[in-house]
Amino acid sequence: MKVLESTPNRYDRGICILTLGRLDKTYDRLASHIREGQRVLDLGCGTGALTLRAAQKGARVKGIDINAQMLDIARKRVAEANLVPNIELLEMGVAELGSEKSESYDAVMAGLCFSELTEDELTYTLREIKRILKPEGLLLIGDEVRPKGTSRLILNWLIRFPLVIITYLLTQTTTNAVKNLPEKIEEAGFVIDSVTLSKIGNFIELVVSKPQGGAN
Ligand SMILES: C[S@@+](CC[C@H](N)C(=O)[O-])C[C@H]1O[C@@H](n2cnc3c(N)ncnc32)[C@H](O)[C@@H]1O
Repeated sequence: MKVLESTPNRYDRGICILTLGRLDKTYDRLASHIREGQRVLDLGCGTGALTLRAAQKGARVKGIDINAQMLDIARKRVAEANLVPNIELLEMGVAELGSEKSESYDAVMAGLCFSELTEDELTYTLREIKRILKPEGLLLIGDEVRPKGTSRLILNWLIRFPLVIITYLLTQTTTNAVKNLPEKIEEAGFVIDSVTLSKIGNFIELVVSKPQGGAN
């Protein structure tokens, strides 16, 4: 998705086309788990798609992202939605999650963020999310994943190949569909409440919880 992030003003339209409108429905479903008055953290909030949905449910939301231009657009959208008092947007990376208080969030959301992290960053981020979530707090994820099975892998490669080439030519970067995400989440000590996979297995929607009494 980095090609879109390099032109933040086109990001929302681009992402809607690229995901065939699927992302909006995924994000609506993820946000349906948020309750009024909860404290929510949105990782890699971008232009605020999940941040705004959570705030519209009455939550107090902190959105963090390393891309200042994406955050500028998020700020405009927050102002237009009259949600400024409920939302804090910070230029901050997941590597700085260590500064967040333990057990201080009811929910952490991550839309298309984990696929932009290195393996080490993802391991660190999952550990920190577990630390900062309250017991029984939720981790809500929508992201690109590496399909399992040869036929699905080939199909996914054929579909993604042109996009990966264009992205690389324009930005010299690419995205890494996450490998074995549910397994990594369980290894980090979370419980998976529900998993929804797209038909070719390249997009996952996960509702995950931190067990009551689970060690940080
Ligand atoms: C594909 S966009 C998704 C944005 C938004 N969550 C959405 O679904 O529209 C990924 C976002 O993650 C951000 N990001 C990438 N690496 C990050 C990191 N290490 N820490 C925080 N944000 C990061 C990018 O700047 C980008 O805005």
